Amino acid sequence: MHLLITGASGLLAREFAPLARQAGWRVDAVPRSGLDITDREAVMTAVRRTKPDGVVNLAAFTDVDRAEAEFARACAVNAEGAGHLAEAAAEVGAVMVQLSTDYVFGGEAAVPYRIDSPPDPVNCYGRSKLRGEIAVRERSPHHLIVRTSWLFGAGGPNFVDSMLVLGRRFRQRGDPLRVVDDQRGRPTWTRSLAEILVALLERDVRGTVHASNDGDASWYELARAALRLAGIQVSMEPVTGSEFPRPARRPGYSVLDLTCLEEALGRRPPHWRSALARYLGAGSGLASPPVPQGGES
Ligand SMILES: NC(=O)c1ccc[n+]([C@@H]2O[C@H](COP(=O)([O-])OP(=O)(O)OC[C@H]3O[C@@H](n4cnc5c(N)ncnc54)[C@H](OP(=O)(O)O)[C@@H]3O)[C@@H](O)[C@H]2O)c1
Repeated sequence: MHLLITGASGLLAREFAPLARQAGWRVDAVPRSGLDITDREAVMTAVRRTKPDGVVNLAAFTDVDRAEAEFARACAVNAEGAGHLAEAAAEVGAVMVQLSTDYVFGGEAAVPYRIDSPPDPVNCYGRSKLRGEIAVRERSPHHLIVRTSWLFGAGGPNFVDSMLVLGRRFRQRGDPLRVVDDQRGRPTWTRSLAEILVALLERDVRGTVHASNDGDASWYELARAALRLAGIQVSMEPVTGSEFPRPARRPGYSVLDLTCLEEALGRRPPHWRSALARYLGAGSGLASPPVPQGGES
């Protein structure tokens, strides 16, 4: 299999590209400087030239708060860019793999969102990603849309690393670390997700799938687990999202139903707690600046 991966400098791409190579696949992993997916002509040229079997779009405008002020830019990348790739993939007969998000859902549910639950995004990022899903379904007959959530992993800013930085800072100051406790989702290690993506591609899975680690948590619970595993003893205080006003609203509940994933792979993914322990055991990349205390998706 020959894959063209976009957004190669991103958090997920840094795990997925090497794993795909380990699977024995030929991989062209291109950062934004090598292929700007908002440039339709550049996308068509790159895909026609490389003629991959699969286009894996890991490029995205992922700054949830900035998307409120820059909705057109977010859509140019997350919707139109995804559409260009889907069009090009269809032309060369490649499968189009698009990453999407739990933030396409509204957050009012009390049970996990199924793949056919009606999307109802509450912020501009979620709306731009939903438009991306629609563009991919319209333009590429052979597609795999993978909705995921609450990523942490090595090589880029993420909530877990930020909590470790802030935990040490607040312990020194003697102040409690206040973290949002009224938003629930499924934390997901990029390594687990990369392994899932390889398995889905190996099995030629098509359509829409939810993929994350198993289990769910609030940002507070995730932070507390990470700090304990890292041995950072700091007092913590659960707070509501309204105590950290941010430009973009977050869904209160965005837990993804994993039934389709389990059916496709014949197993549940690892629990986020064991994934987190493996990630922190492997050492985290703490060079990145902290992300906000409510997290991203
Ligand atoms: N992070 C999460 O918690 C989360 C949750 C749910 C879903 N997702 C989805 O999962 C996917 C991967 O996310 P991630 O966390 O790995 O994202 P990320 O770390 O922000 O990486 C995205 C990459 O896309 C690149 N990019 C931005 N605009 C581009 C353009 N016009 N052309 C080409 N590349 C461009 C960025 O390049 P620069 O480095 O140059 O900016 C960056 O390297 C995305 O589709 C995201 O929406 C993420």
